[in-house]
Formats: sequence, structure tokens, C-alpha cells
Amino acid sequence: MSLPQPAPDRGGPAQPLLALEGLVKHFPLKGGLFGRTRAVVRAVDGVSFTVAKGETLGIVGESGCGKSTTARLLMRLMEPDAGSMIFDGEPVGENEQAGGVSLRDYRRQVQMVFQDSYASLNPRLPIEESIAFGPRVHGLPAGEAVQRARELLGAVGLAPESFARRYPHELSGGQRQRVNIARALALRPRLVILDEPVSALDKSVEAQVLNLLVDLKEGFGLTYVFISHDLNVVQYISDRVLVMYLGEVAEMGPVGAIYDRPAHPYTQALLASRPSMDPARRRTKPPLTGDPPNPVNPPSGCRFRTRCPHAEEVCAARKPNMAALGEGHVAACHMADPASGHSKAGSALEAVA
Ligand SMILES: Nc1ncnc2c1ncn2[C@@H]1O[C@H](COP(=O)(O)OP(=O)(O)O)[C@@H](O)[C@H]1O
Ligand code: SF4
Ligand SMILES: [Mg+2]
Repeated sequence: MSLPQPAPDRGGPAQPLLALEGLVKHFPLKGGLFGRTRAVVRAVDGVSFTVAKGETLGIVGESGCGKSTTARLLMRLMEPDAGSMIFDGEPVGENEQAGGVSLRDYRRQVQMVFQDSYASLNPRLPIEESIAFGPRVHGLPAGEAVQRARELLGAVGLAPESFARRYPHELSGGQRQRVNIARALALRPRLVILDEPVSALDKSVEAQVLNLLVDLKEGFGLTYVFISHDLNVVQYISDRVLVMYLGEVAEMGPVGAIYDRPAHPYTQALLASRPSMDPARRRTKPPLTGDPPNPVNPPSGCRFRTRCPHAEEVCAARKPNMAALGEGHVAACHMADPASGHSKAGSALEAVA
């Protein structure tokens, strides 16, 4: 089949598939008589991380913390205000002669699945044609594109003989999300960004779709960035986890370290407010109260300080450094940084126990 094959692995397994440095996206808020910009929403405010080849990086945080904006920046559905993006060693959006990867090529190698299973499907097209659309646009003859679509329907567990000619409204939410996943895979991407892909599904269907994603990742040699507000789902699917708070990275590390030894008080509070199945462990008072502050005017210093039980003067005065805790575990908290001057500095890990 002449469908574009996945681009070759250029830098070897140790070179990150994606490396982001200092990503910023601010949305101007217009207002007043002359529609002048009155304020900016600091949706993503200096985010840096890498995605290793073959891993699943989970991104978790409360609603409004900038997860979807990060996803749209990763997809280059919008331009960042600042920051750099390197895809398998090549700057994204720079011309190929200069050693970059063009946006067109990048947008083939990176695909996205959204929460809303209707959003990316044309309601007037049978689903096999929606899946075949991308490959056709990229030059695959119509017959081959449809053949490819049918293979992908099989791969996502929808028998092509009974599903190929159905329309989106004839499917359940879980089936439609399987179609969206097939559609995202039709151009043989290397990286798939999944933004709340199971959040609209019932729990039983959610588990099936998560297992399908795990199988497809293995079968197609994919790398995932998996975004969810659901800590359990992120724990299940991720190799590494990034915790976002108000447009910034609060903590990042291997999934075991984040869930067993969270160092940032925000991560600790998120985990403690998970509903527990065990009544003996159920809390009477939710540890994380109130909404996050407004990203138009975030607190000075550490953005979590208005909700943090350990906040001290230094937390208002200075933004915490990203402190390294070993094995790639990092946390942006003065308590995790022995040199910060916080009275509990160096005791962040014990604070959990
Ligand atoms: N196009 C936009 N214009 C203005 N504000 C936006 C826009 N998109 C997102 N925001 C704001 O940016 C912040 C982050 O939003 P979002 O990335 O959707 O967060 P999440 O996906 O974590 O819920 C929110 O305060 C949201 O209201
Ligand atoms: S830096 Fe200060 S306010 Fe921020 S999380 Fe750490 S202790 Fe809390
Ligand atoms: Mg979102």
C-alpha cells in the first residue's frame, strides 16, 4: 500500500520525539468602547517538557489550567506567543532546507483525538469516507484510501462489513470515539495527542476504549500525550505524568513517583481529593477547596499559594524553581528546593507521609 509510512526514526530511541521549551499562549481579552485589549488570559505561561519515543505522557489538572491550550499548541492549531518546539531533533515550522520540519509534514506526523466524538466527523459521510478523507487529501487513490479505512475500522474493533457504510448518528458514543481514533491513525502518525478522549463515555465503555488505545499504541508503535482531568485514568494509561496548575507545570515525573510520592502540595491535594472506594479512607473535608484563581491575574510568586496550606512569605515573593527529586521527578515548590529559604525546605517528600 502506498499510504505514507511513518517517518523514519531519525535520532534514535534516546532522542525525545518532542521537546518543548518555554511555551507561552496568552489570550487577549477585548472590551470597552474601542475593543482594546484590557487584559490577557495567561492560559499557558512558560511550559517546558519532553515526550520520549514510545511513552505515554499524561497531563492532568483542574478545568481551566491550560491543558487544551497546550494540546492545541502541540498540534500547532494555534501559534505559540513564545517558546520552541523540536520534533525528533528538528525545529517545527522552519524550512526544510534549514533542517526543520514543515508544518504540513508535522501535521501529518502528529494527530489529535478530542473529547467530543461528533466534532471531527462529517455527519453526512459514511464513516469509512471520513477515515479515508485524510489519506486521499495526501494523495492516496480513492480505492486504496477506502481499503485503508476498512483495515483501520477492523483495528479499532468495528467490523468493516457492518460499520463501514454507517453514518455517525447511527453509532454509540464509544463507537464514534473508535472511529475518531481510526481517523487519527489514517495518516500513520508518530505522535497522537488525546484531549479528554474518554471523558464523555460511560465507565464501562471508558475502560474498553482505554484498553484499545493501549493495544493500538503497541501495534502501531505510537507515542501518546494523554490529557485528562481524571487522576485514575491518567494513572492507568501513563508512563510519566505532568501536573498543570494555572498555565504552569507544578510537578512532573514517572507515574509511580507522582502517585506514591507527590512532592507538590497541589498534587498532594488533588490525590487526596480523589473519591476513595474504601470508607475508612474517605475524608470528611475536601483538602482542595475553592476554584483556582483567575488566570487573568494569577498570584505572584507561586501560583498555588492562595490554596496552599504551607504557603510562607517566600512563596509570594518568588516563583519556585523546578527542583529535581531524582529519576526525572521534578516539582516547582519552595519546599522541594533546599536553598529556597522556606522553613520546610527539603522536607516536601516527608510532608506527604
Ligand atoms: N480562545 C480563547 N480565548 C480566551 N480565553 C481562552 C481561550 N481558550 C482558552 N481560554 C482560557 O484559557 C484558560 C485555559 O483553558 P484550557 O486550555 O481550555 O484549559 P483546560 O483544557 O485545562 O480546561 C481558561 O481560563 C480558558 O478560559
Ligand atoms: S511554593 Fe509555597 S505556596 Fe507554592 S506549593 Fe510550595 S509551599 Fe505551597
Ligand atoms: Mg480542556
